[in-house]
Amino acid sequence: MKIAVFASGNGSNFQAIIDRIKDGYLKDEIVLVVVDKPDAYVIARAIKEGVNVFSFNPKDYRDKKTYEELILRKCRENKVEFIVLAGYMRLLGNTLLAAYPDKIINIHPSLLPAFKGKDAIGQAIAYGVKVMGVSIHYVNKEMDGGRIIAQKAFEVDECWSKEDIEAKIHQVEHELYPKVIKEIGEGL
Ligand code: GRF
Repeated sequence: MKIAVFASGNGSNFQAIIDRIKDGYLKDEIVLVVVDKPDAYVIARAIKEGVNVFSFNPKDYRDKKTYEELILRKCRENKVEFIVLAGYMRLLGNTLLAAYPDKIINIHPSLLPAFKGKDAIGQAIAYGVKVMGVSIHYVNKEMDGGRIIAQKAFEVDECWSKEDIEAKIHQVEHELYPKVIKEIGEGL
């Protein structure tokens, strides 16, 4: 599949996916990275990997429809077939959802439907949960709301700090996201 990755920050999931393309596990290609924060570190990662970047500041546009039409044009120019959200901190609008039905997935650092939205790990810690995990789901217009494709849970050790938990979450994400992308790509 020709994939676009949408991100807003560090881009460690982008890196994990492209690393699995480079080592031959995935037969897909990341043809575009879409970033809504022009200073996000994921941009440097994408440039280093030779991937086209479209970065934009939503504040420069009248509304979501206007910038999503531009994103859609970039996707079409790059022949994007599938969209992977990886830390993209923005709800998608109908322009993109209608153009890519069942072709957009997201990763979220909780066992959905628990702890939707921002700082899911902080929410889970505040609740004192003993089992945490990662979910990958199809994207619809609701935040973290689409049908779940895969989940992976782990037990939280009493002595783990928030940083330890974040590291564990990332380790799980970096294994699970390439696996799910592979399964979806092979099922097409
Ligand atoms: C991940 O924890 C993901 O679950 C969440 O945002 C984070 C992105 O991390 N949606 P990164 O930018 O891929 O490092």
